[in-house]
Amino acid sequence: MLEDRIRRPSLLDKIVTPREAAGLIRDGMTIGMSGFTRAGDAKAVPVALAERAKTDPFKITLLTGASLGHDIDRMLTEAHVLARRMPFQTDPTLRAAINRGEVMFVDQHLSETVEHLRAHQLGPIDYAIIEAAAIREDGGIIPSTSIGNSASFAILAKKVIVEINLLQTLDLEGLHDIYIPTRRPMREAIPVTACDSRAGLPFIPIDPDKIAAIVITEQKDSFSTVEPADDDTQAIANHLIGFFEKEVQCGRLDLTLNPLQAGIGTIANSVLAGLAAGPFHHLRLYSEVLQDSTFDLFDAGKLSFASGSSITLSSACAARVYADFRRYKDRLVLRPQEISNHPEVIRRLGVIGINTALEADIYGNINSTHVNGTHMMNGIGGSGDFARNAYLSIFVTKSLAKGGRISSIVPMVPHVDHTEHDVDIIVTEQGLADIRELAPRERAVEIIRNCAHPSYREELLDYFTRAVKRGGHTPHILEEALSWHARSRETGSMRDAARSEAAE
Ligand code: COA
Repeated sequence: MLEDRIRRPSLLDKIVTPREAAGLIRDGMTIGMSGFTRAGDAKAVPVALAERAKTDPFKITLLTGASLGHDIDRMLTEAHVLARRMPFQTDPTLRAAINRGEVMFVDQHLSETVEHLRAHQLGPIDYAIIEAAAIREDGGIIPSTSIGNSASFAILAKKVIVEINLLQTLDLEGLHDIYIPTRRPMREAIPVTACDSRAGLPFIPIDPDKIAAIVITEQKDSFSTVEPADDDTQAIANHLIGFFEKEVQCGRLDLTLNPLQAGIGTIANSVLAGLAAGPFHHLRLYSEVLQDSTFDLFDAGKLSFASGSSITLSSACAARVYADFRRYKDRLVLRPQEISNHPEVIRRLGVIGINTALEADIYGNINSTHVNGTHMMNGIGGSGDFARNAYLSIFVTKSLAKGGRISSIVPMVPHVDHTEHDVDIIVTEQGLADIRELAPRERAVEIIRNCAHPSYREELLDYFTRAVKRGGHTPHILEEALSWHARSRETGSMRDAARSEAAE
């Protein structure tokens, strides 16, 4: 029944086709769209926008929560609709356009975008396009499988287009906790003091007169692309689980650990899934994306509560979870990403943050975003929000990339997302470096010995030994520090051909 989904009768007159809704968007507008890690994205109007641009060219600035599903970023890029894009993306076609300089991409901490909007450093938003499970009688929007930035986009936008997705279960109602921080500098403390704290409303409160159009859709979220664990990701998970066990033996953590955050992807999913087999219990998540592992941990009886900003599942897991969503619902909450990623809350709860690096250097600086220092991969996402404020800031990566041609442990990273000051633990399939309370010279030994792949270890030790002879708190041979990346740019490999030949 459409009336169950659009409970304010006067709004039924606002139902239009996606094409008609897309017709409201004008050249040069700033659009805030729902969508966080492929979940809860607007699915019909952006496709109609791309279609329209083929005959009626126009450009927009597009803000979202994080990455979108349904190839929307690809379609919008191919239709040349995107002038500016923020704060995160994962689409190969958009990535290529960003790296050609055709789309201006602003790579931003996920907690910050709406702060900038609220402070008028960014915006204003002309239209918010938000997927919803329903609209309440008072006009309040009940989001679907993500919140991301949707609440502030809808509240701050001049006008709102709502996509009511009939395939999103109405059981989602009550899952969300929409808390919007007060204005600075007199902001009150955010009343989230535990993973299961509820501080706000279960809907996005807006003036119903702002709703310019409603579009009805019937399309599932894109499924997650998480791969099953391979030997390397399993080894990383095992090192990390062993580390947590040691922390428990030392009395620094108990078997419930501290609330956990894990970035999206295969490694993070394997680490969380691996916790199901360990001695840990009553675990809690204070994370961004709730993946398959969240529900595996619930089913294993290991997880008490999960707080996130979106639910992104594989097709098999989605079928299982949404067939019986009420079984999980009272142990879940979805929050705006500025709250799931808020420095104040992360620091207060003592979150253990686990994020993935492209590469780390011998002193613990992390590059998560720029391949070879120049080419954007996805963006910093929420990793910086967590790394700077976590109780334990953990970075994981395989020690090798591109079939061994690239070492993920390098003398110096050519782009720094997380400085050595924000990193406590680095893990590769080779082992774990605990660099807490270590000076740079101590860290280098720990990282090279424990994390580097054996085929690069000697060369790294050689670099470090020669750098130490030059002195300094953080010794480097500046003219050589980025030579591995220069070599990779020229030959596609960091391997030193002369050295390899000599070794043979
Ligand atoms: N140099 C060059 N390329 C590298 C590399 C390196 N040191 N390390 C990995 N790569 C490449 C891989 O070869 C792979 O390329 P492909 O897509 O062509 O196969 C790609 O980067 C992804 O690497 P993968 O090992 O599959 O890891 P992933 O899918 O987990 O992604 C990040 C790793 C770093 C790109 C990803 O985690 C990310 O974007 N992180 C930043 C945002 C973040 O941390 N968010 C967390 C909170 S949402």
